[in-house]
Amino acid sequence: MSLMNTLSSSSTILITGGTDGIGRALVFKYLQLGWNVVTCGRNPQKILELEQDAPKGNLCVVNADVSVEKDCERLVNHAVKMFGGMDVLINNAGISMRGLVEEGGKEIIGVVKKVMDINFNGALYCTTYALPHIVRSKGVIVGVSSIAGYRGLPGRTGYSASKFALQGFLEALKVEVVDKGVHVMWVSPGFIASNIRFSALDQGGNQRGASTMDEQKMMTPEQCAALIAKGVEDRKRTVVMSFQGKQTVFLNKFFPGLADKLVRAFYFKEGKLVK
Ligand SMILES: NC(=O)c1ccc[n+]([C@@H]2O[C@H](COP(=O)([O-])OP(=O)(O)OC[C@H]3O[C@@H](n4cnc5c(N)ncnc54)[C@H](OP(=O)(O)O)[C@@H]3O)[C@@H](O)[C@H]2O)c1
Repeated sequence: MSLMNTLSSSSTILITGGTDGIGRALVFKYLQLGWNVVTCGRNPQKILELEQDAPKGNLCVVNADVSVEKDCERLVNHAVKMFGGMDVLINNAGISMRGLVEEGGKEIIGVVKKVMDINFNGALYCTTYALPHIVRSKGVIVGVSSIAGYRGLPGRTGYSASKFALQGFLEALKVEVVDKGVHVMWVSPGFIASNIRFSALDQGGNQRGASTMDEQKMMTPEQCAALIAKGVEDRKRTVVMSFQGKQTVFLNKFFPGLADKLVRAFYFKEGKLVK
């Protein structure tokens, strides 16, 4: 059943982390569709810029940190108070990391915890507080995962763990609420040109401020947002986005040993992590 057929243009969506990258593109997309949009971020400057640049429509931007449970409760309550309910939740807010466990020593523990707190606990809090409202609307809960949710990636141990956890949580929840008419799904973008590699934490827990990848060749956040919106509309189980992503998921499922070698060759040169 198409969601767009069951929801009017006054449907309400909560998108976490909508002040940059994929989340920002999703905010624009749903405002253009005429939906009520609630989003959040931590950086006041980015919040201001989003409010200034967004297309006309019902937009509410909240300063909230998804790794703080109280912030998530406040965010959901605010959305419901403003627009009378909630039809779709997209757990999008996330950060990445780049660092080897062996080189990071005990510092890496803090990095992994921080990534888990945002990428997994953030989704746990928002989903839990939003669930009664989504049950009422027979709506959709989405997790923005990654190819790293299917295949652990070197230098991204905490990131991979957070996305595996997210997918496990959502897959279990999907079956718990299936009789209620709620649809639970996740989407797995490939490499998207965004701020994520610049804000990624290094093995000491500092923002890297640089990317080792060719950002020009990547899918744009707008293309990614369009694929997510289509997946939500069609109530897909999952959306794996790029050809490289689909190939990785397939190879890892059926030939994990070969996938280990290919992943090693992609990320390492002469024993050094280069991506
Ligand atoms: N870009 C890719 O290649 C790629 C690939 C696969 C999956 N993804 C996933 O896509 C999602 C979005 O990533 P992106 O590439 O769009 O990253 P991005 O450009 O860095 O944007 C991340 C957004 O999340 C917000 N955010 C980060 N931490 C937050 C927190 N604790 N509380 C609230 N908001 C927070 C950021 O705002 P503030 O910093 O101001 O809070 C920003 O609005 C993530 O879950 C990421 O894992 C990205």
